Amino acid sequence: MSHSRQSFATPVVTSVNAGSGLEDVIAAETVLSHVDGAAGRLIIRGYDLQDLAGWTFEALLSHLWRDLAPENLDKATIRSELGAARVEAYPIAMSLVGDIDALGDVEALRLMLAALPDATNTPHHSLAVAAVPVFSAAIARRRRNLKPVEPDASLGHAADYMRMLHGVEIDAGRVRALETYLVTVADHGLNASTFTARVVASTRAGLFSSVTGALCALKGPLHGGAPGPVLDMLDAIGEPANIRPWLQAALDRGERLMGFGHRIYRVRDPRADALKAATVLLRDSAERIRFAEKVEIEALALLAERKPLRPLQTNVEFFTALVLEAVGMPRESFTNVFAAGRMAGWTAHVLEQERLGKLIRPQSRYVGPMPA
Ligand code: ACO
Repeated sequence: MSHSRQSFATPVVTSVNAGSGLEDVIAAETVLSHVDGAAGRLIIRGYDLQDLAGWTFEALLSHLWRDLAPENLDKATIRSELGAARVEAYPIAMSLVGDIDALGDVEALRLMLAALPDATNTPHHSLAVAAVPVFSAAIARRRRNLKPVEPDASLGHAADYMRMLHGVEIDAGRVRALETYLVTVADHGLNASTFTARVVASTRAGLFSSVTGALCALKGPLHGGAPGPVLDMLDAIGEPANIRPWLQAALDRGERLMGFGHRIYRVRDPRADALKAATVLLRDSAERIRFAEKVEIEALALLAERKPLRPLQTNVEFFTALVLEAVGMPRESFTNVFAAGRMAGWTAHVLEQERLGKLIRPQSRYVGPMPA
C-alpha cells in the first residue's frame, strides 16, 4: 500500500487563541453538571441547584456516582461506607499531623491526600470523600495545639466533620448549614480543578492521584476562592454607618468589592441564593448576617451605579464566608472545606473519565524558532 505525502501531513486541528484560557472550548462531555451563566442556572445531573440544595451530602453522592461507580448505593449505604472510610483515613491524619507545622493548610491537606495508598479495598471514591474532613479537621485543630478527634462512623458526614473540628457534637442548624455548603459547591462544570482531575484520570493514574492533582489546581488563588477576603471586608467596614462611605471609598480607589462579580454568571450566581437561604439556620450569627445583608444591598446599588454596562451580582463567596464563619471554620481552612465539598464532583468526574478510557492529549502550536 502506498501513502501519498498528504497522508503523513500534520492533522488538521482546531486552533484556539493561546491567551484565551480555553474559554468556550468544549473539552469534555459530561452527564454531571452544566453551568448556564446567562440564565444563572446550575444543573446537577438533571436537577436545578436550588432543588437539591436541601439534600444530604450522602444523597447527592448517590446521585452523582449513579451508573459511574461499580455499584449503585443508596444514601443510607453511602452514609455507613463513608463512616467506615473516615475511620480508615484517621491513622493517616494521625501519622502526618506532626509534620505539617511548616505548611499552609492546603499544603497539609495535599500531603495527607497524597498519602492515600492505591492498594486499598475500600472504593477509592468513598475513601477520598471521607478523608478530606478527617484531614482538614485534624489540620485545623493542630493550628490550635489540639489533638485530632477520632471519627464517629455512626454519624452523617457533615455532622462528623463538625464534631471532628470542634471536639463535641454541635447543633443541627450549623450542621445543616455546612451540609448545604458542601452540596452547593459539589460540582460546577469543567472548572480548572475538575479538568485537572479528568486529565490525570485519563492517564489511568488512579483516583487518588487524580484528586490530589485537582487539589493542587484548587490551591491557586484564582480558583480556591475568596471567602476570607469577604470577611476581611466586613471587618474593615465594621458598623452599619460605615457601609456606604467605606464601599464608595474602595471603589474610588479602583478596588474590587469582594464577593461580587463572576466570570461566567452574568446574572445572580444560584449558589449565592442557596447559601443565603441556609443563613436562617445560623441563629447565633444573626447580627453578623443582618449586617452582611446591608452590605450586600449597598454594594449592589453602588456597583449598578458605577458599572451600569457590566452586570455585577453577588457571587458564591459572599455567603460562603458567612456560613463557614458561623459554623466555626477558621479562615485558613476555607479552601480545605471547599475541597471537602468539591471532592464529590472530582470523584464523579474521575469515574466518568475512567469509563471513557481515552487519554486527554491536546496539541500545542509551536511558535518557537525552527532549526537553522
Ligand atoms: N467590584 C468592583 N468592580 C468589579 C468587580 C467587583 N467585585 N468585579 C468586576 N468589576 C469590574 C472591573 O473593575 C472591570 O471594570 P472596568 O471594565 O471598568 O475596568 C469590569 O467589572 C470587568 O472586570 P473583569 O475582571 O474583566 O471581570 P471578570 O468577569 O473577569 O471578573 C471576577 C470576575 C475576577 C470574579 C471579578 O468580578 C472580581 O474580581 N470579583 C471580586 C473577587 C471575588 O469575589 N472573587 C470570587 C469570585 S467567585 C469564584 O471564583 C468561585
